[in-house]
This record gives sequence, structure tokens and C-alpha cells, in this order.
Amino acid sequence: MKLEIKRNILLNPGPATTSDAVKRALVVPDICPREKEFGDLLAGICTDLPAIVHGDSEYLSVLFTASGTGGLEAAVTSAIPKNGKLMVIENGAYGKRIQNIAQTYKIPTTSYSLEYGSYPDLSEVERMLKQDPEISHLAVVHHETTTGMLNPVGEICQLAHRYNVEVIIDAMSSFAGIPINIRDWNAEYLISSSNKCIQGMPGLVFVIFRKDLLAGLKENQRSFYFDMFTQFTGFHKTGQMPYTPPVQIVYSLRKAIDEYFSETEIGRWDRYRTNWETLYSGLLKLGFKFLLPLEQQSKILLAVLDPVDSKFSFQEMHDYLYQRGFTIYPGKGASKKTFRLAIIGDLYQEDIENFLVTLKEYIDLNDLKISD
Ligand SMILES: Cc1ncc(COP(=O)(O)O)c(C=O)c1O
Repeated sequence: MKLEIKRNILLNPGPATTSDAVKRALVVPDICPREKEFGDLLAGICTDLPAIVHGDSEYLSVLFTASGTGGLEAAVTSAIPKNGKLMVIENGAYGKRIQNIAQTYKIPTTSYSLEYGSYPDLSEVERMLKQDPEISHLAVVHHETTTGMLNPVGEICQLAHRYNVEVIIDAMSSFAGIPINIRDWNAEYLISSSNKCIQGMPGLVFVIFRKDLLAGLKENQRSFYFDMFTQFTGFHKTGQMPYTPPVQIVYSLRKAIDEYFSETEIGRWDRYRTNWETLYSGLLKLGFKFLLPLEQQSKILLAVLDPVDSKFSFQEMHDYLYQRGFTIYPGKGASKKTFRLAIIGDLYQEDIENFLVTLKEYIDLNDLKISD
């Protein structure tokens, strides 16, 4: 089947640019999601998701129809026991969101709250864990999409486990992009969605969790829809998701996972790194500066400092680029004014080079001063 589909270069951090094959996979014969054929498709996806982070036989996964936030809500409301307490490392908007979810459900929380773009101090994390034995869970964002920071999740897991604290990792914008070994971290819960580095369409979110935790989840239910135990056991008893799944999105996620395995973990990481290095060096050449030091960067997203020129308007630059097929993204509450560029999705070095040419065109046309 040939579909002529315009290819946009999305430099926003997801939903990301998808391949034509992933787009085409949406067009399938209508099927009732209660049919075994569809249940088998879902079961295959649930087996493959933990394998992407090398969880293999020690981890399970559960799918929900929702955006990424729904998966965070499922993990937070299902994992924490009624007498538990959540500590959140909050150095960006997504850490803050986890805290907001917990507070909505009146789960006791404490937060290690930093300016957006500040690197967590592990001795402070330890001090907080040591000081408060009521903390049962710790949540951290692996790749803080607000700033492009890669938080030291491995070290944080080690610390948390030393204090018998379970870890909930928001890996929304790193899963299937940055290589992760969940068994090395021995992390309890990891959440991501169908539309970021896995390169599928938006509509599904999943929680990958350690097998031995399943039975304990039963007692923790707080949400009707986002309950991991009900959703997981419901599906495994019947081969059907308890509530209507987004049928076509599931087919396109299947295709996206197949593409991931054929590209391989290292192949995807190499492609993303090439994209990022092309972007980083191209922006440096144009005079741009960045929010974070190089060693804290995820290398899949850049928070770029706004040009110093008083004529600069993000919206005008956005519109110029958008009309030419490139979507850029505004900043989000970082300590300095930024805009963001992600290189995730079905993007290649040539796309980034073309973007840089168009960006330069805009800068020259407006005679913009980029930095002092
Ligand atoms: C790290 C992180 N967590 C959570 C979310 C929320 O996901 P959604 O907007 O799909 O609900 C995002 C979205 O960009 C994210 O980057």
C-alpha cells in the first residue's frame, strides 16, 4: 500500500517523527479488540517492552490507553502502599508532575527540589533518605525533558536500595533511545510511552516492573482506571485489555518495536548520537550557548539559550521554521530562557543539517545577534 505522506521534521521531544512504515501500520482491517488475534498482538508487545531495557524474564509490563502522564499516575497510585511515602527528585517540570500526582491522591510526599537544570547532589539524596525512614518509594526522571539533563539514575537506585526504598523511574523520553539496563539498576518501576524514542504513535503508555512486586500491588489500589494490578491480571486472565485499547495505535507500536529491534539498541543510540553531535556542533558554530554543561547532557535534547538580541521572538523563529517543515519547541521553566531541540524519532543526520541551514537562513535574514 502506497500512501503519500508529508514528512515533517519534529524537533520537539515527542510525539516524534515516525517512519512511513509506522504510519502505514495504522491502516489495518477493522478488528474487535476482544479477538484472540488482537490479544496475541498485545501479549507480544508486553513481552518485548521489558526486553528493550534488558528486563527479560525478571520484569513484566502493563499497558494503559493514555498519554505518558497516565503511566506515571498508574505507577504512583499502584506502587506505594497505603502507609507509604514518596520522595521525588524534582529538577524539572516532570519531577514536579510526579509530585503533583502523588499529592492529588493525598500520598505523603517529600521532595528534593532543585532549580530546573540543577544536577542532584547524591549526598543530599542520601541525607534525606537516612533522615526519613517513612520514605518507601523514590521517583526520579531519567531524562528530564525540561532541560535535557540525564539524571544519575544508577547511583540513585543504589542509594535508595541501601535504605530499602523502591524506585519509580520516569523514562518517558529515554526508553528505546538511550540504552538502559534495568537489571543493572535493579529498578522496581519504569514508565514510558509509545510516542517518544520507541518511535510509535501517541496513545499508549506502559509500566515495566519487577515480577516479584506483582502480588503486593493488589493492596495498593487508589485509582479505578490506572490500577496496575487490575489491568495486568485482567489482561492475563482474558487476553483482553479491560477497557478499549486504541486498536490502530497498537498495530503501529508493533511496527515501531520491530523497527527498533532491526535497528538494534546500539544502532539507534549511534544514530541519535550522530544527530545530536551534528546539532550541537552546528549550533555552536552559529554562536548558540546551552543551559547545561556537556557532561550533564542526555545527548538527545538540547535546551538552547535564547539569542541575546532584543529583536528575538521564539514565535517568529518557530513560524519561519514550521513553514519549512521543522518544528521547534519552547523552553519549560528552566532557570534561564531557553528553547528546546530534540533529535529523537525517525530522523537522520541529513535532516539535522537541513535544519541548521534553514535556521542560519532565519538568523541572517533577521540579522540576529546570538550571544555576547
Ligand atoms: C520525562 C517526561 N515525563 C512525562 C511526560 C508526560 O507525558 P505526556 O505529555 O505524554 O502525558 C513527558 C512528556 O514529554 C516527559 O518528557
